[in-house]
Amino acid sequence: MKTIIEPFRIKMTEPLKVTTREERVAKLIEAHHNVFLLDAEDCALDLLTDSGTGAMSAQQWAAMMIGDESYAGSRSWKRFEAAVRDITGIDHIFPTHQGRAAEGILAECVLKPGDVVPNNSHFDTTRANVEYRGAVALNLPCAEAFDTAAEAPFKGNMDLEGLKRCIAEHGVEKIPFAMITVTNNAGGGQPVSMANVRGVKEILKRHGIPLIIDACRFAENAYFIREREPEFEGRDLLEIAQEMFSYADGATMSCKKDGLANIGGFLVCRDGEWAEHFRNLLILREGFPTYGGLAGRDLEAIAVGLKEALDYDYQVYRHATVEYMASRLLEIGVPMVQPAGGHAIFLDAKKMVPHVPLLQYPGVGIVNALYVEGGIRAVELGTVAFGYIDETGQEHPAPLELVRMAFPRRVYTQSHFDYMIEAIVAVWRQRDRIGGHRITYQAKQLRHFTCHMEPIG
Ligand code: F0G
Repeated sequence: MKTIIEPFRIKMTEPLKVTTREERVAKLIEAHHNVFLLDAEDCALDLLTDSGTGAMSAQQWAAMMIGDESYAGSRSWKRFEAAVRDITGIDHIFPTHQGRAAEGILAECVLKPGDVVPNNSHFDTTRANVEYRGAVALNLPCAEAFDTAAEAPFKGNMDLEGLKRCIAEHGVEKIPFAMITVTNNAGGGQPVSMANVRGVKEILKRHGIPLIIDACRFAENAYFIREREPEFEGRDLLEIAQEMFSYADGATMSCKKDGLANIGGFLVCRDGEWAEHFRNLLILREGFPTYGGLAGRDLEAIAVGLKEALDYDYQVYRHATVEYMASRLLEIGVPMVQPAGGHAIFLDAKKMVPHVPLLQYPGVGIVNALYVEGGIRAVELGTVAFGYIDETGQEHPAPLELVRMAFPRRVYTQSHFDYMIEAIVAVWRQRDRIGGHRITYQAKQLRHFTCHMEPIG
């Protein structure tokens, strides 16, 4: 059989509200032209994020029913700990309420002002946590990452020469750890090869710098390694993940992605001294070390979900959905990051609307047009999210202007994707009519979540 089917059937449904175009125009004005400020029920298909928006399996719901809500040393903690240890092989395990809490604890315990943290690309919360400590979040993506049309298999890789230069320039004592984000969300959901992880580790080991993996989409990355790196052809995804973590001295994780859960995260490390610091701060910020900001039932859902994410048939189906949409849009000529990433389609806004200046946020024009056209909520990952304002107040555009349509896990069916394709094609055909936006209110950090905007002209 050629058709790849969803490896599950649907047991529970949730209604979608389809609004009219006029209603959507009015809702967008009320939301200050920022789709983060829309009510979710006004978005027919919500592709804002793949984070915490997935559907859990019957096995996860069943496990939640036996959640042990004891404050200390619960059975659910034991199951969570066993699952995380089996996958990562790392001893010290700290549950957190989500990924950014793990990043926050790591940054607060280890970083000091003036430090430098190299990463293939920091996600926005990772960057904010590093910068909040007065340290510098340095992105070192490989050269292919900037060419959205280049068909390279591992565009999430870190630039190894750049890493060497960074260490030579700043010195080991300024780099308490380096990170590698799998898959590289900020760079188009692109995978990192095992060869690159090994290369990064080799360089860091020579200087005694610990490697921290931002593991949010570790299972999707393992799938790409199996499919694209000949050495790993046909290998079990769990084994691939285990090898990847074997090079890490620690990891931060948002279980809202490849934990297939609606909330949760963890921080892990090998070093006993770090663990001591993490434990103390965890108790202060998150909770006792055996629940860390999560209910026992959440720990159960994650313990099951982490393993389900490593199921090969699930990953085949997941990637087939992304491929399905990407291949149809490419046929029509819609510019996007190629090859498609693991959890999302990333439209290339710079190429879609080249007439919109970068500081008028081309991605926002497309995001808002998609909402008006089809009630679809996507997200700008361009200058509003990743641009920066220097000391003189001058705004600098981000290197890429992307519009991400992230796929919640196990939520939408093929007809939903067909509808999305129709809406994107309609926007593409009217692209000449898409204009720029200006920001009328913004916060100092993570401005894209709350800023207000208005169309120019
Ligand atoms: N690292 C990466 C690579 C991420 O994509 C995210 C979240 C985080 C860390 C933080 O995890 O949300 O649990 O605190 N990404 C979501 C997204 C929000 O939409 O891509 P969190």
